[in-house]
Amino acid sequence: MKLQVFLGFLFIAKCSAEINFMLANATAEVGSDATIPCTYEATGFEGMVPTLRWYAKKGAARTRLYVFVQDDDTRTFKASGVPRNLSIETDGSLIIPGVNLADNADFSQLICEVDFGAGGSAEGVLDFSVYAFPNTEPVTERFASEFDMSTTLPIPRQFVHFIT
Ligand SMILES: *[C@@H]1O[C@H](CO)[C@@H](O)[C@H](O)[C@H]1NC(C)=O
Ligand SMILES: *[C@@H]1O[C@H](CO)[C@@H](O)[C@H](O)[C@H]1NC(C)=O
Repeated sequence: MKLQVFLGFLFIAKCSAEINFMLANATAEVGSDATIPCTYEATGFEGMVPTLRWYAKKGAARTRLYVFVQDDDTRTFKASGVPRNLSIETDGSLIIPGVNLADNADFSQLICEVDFGAGGSAEGVLDFSVYAFPNTEPVTERFASEFDMSTTLPIPRQFVHFIT
């Protein structure tokens, strides 16, 4: 009887602990600093400080980018071997400074893991992309005339040659 009560208590305690992510996909313009928050709600972990880990996900593989513990500089660090100059906000948001189009290959999916140790852990994933505004350089005469031809010829040979 005593044991049953004890087990029941444990069961309830475990079920009441919950981590819910409220992540949003993010975009950033070339050259800007991207700040990507790891938004979540944790219940049942009162008084516990989680370790937050950011990863870049590529297919089934993941690369650790950053480890963050609020107000603990000794346990907050950029993962070794990450070539990119990343940093972290005081709330654990990941900062990718001066984004470029190559970041689309490296950071297209980001994982945020929230780890309460023995209390449990969970992770969420979001898509990230860098965009550039269309090139505003004037179109060259040569390209313009070839482009015009494409309206009269279904497959202008010159145009095909130009882009190959
Ligand atoms: C991000 O975008 C992908 C693809 O459009 C979508 O499947 C996913 O649900 C989105 N994730 C979030 C957190 O909004
Ligand atoms: C790295 O990013 C930080 C924060 O944006 C910046 O202060 C620093 O100058 C950058 N370092 C390099 C080498 O780009």
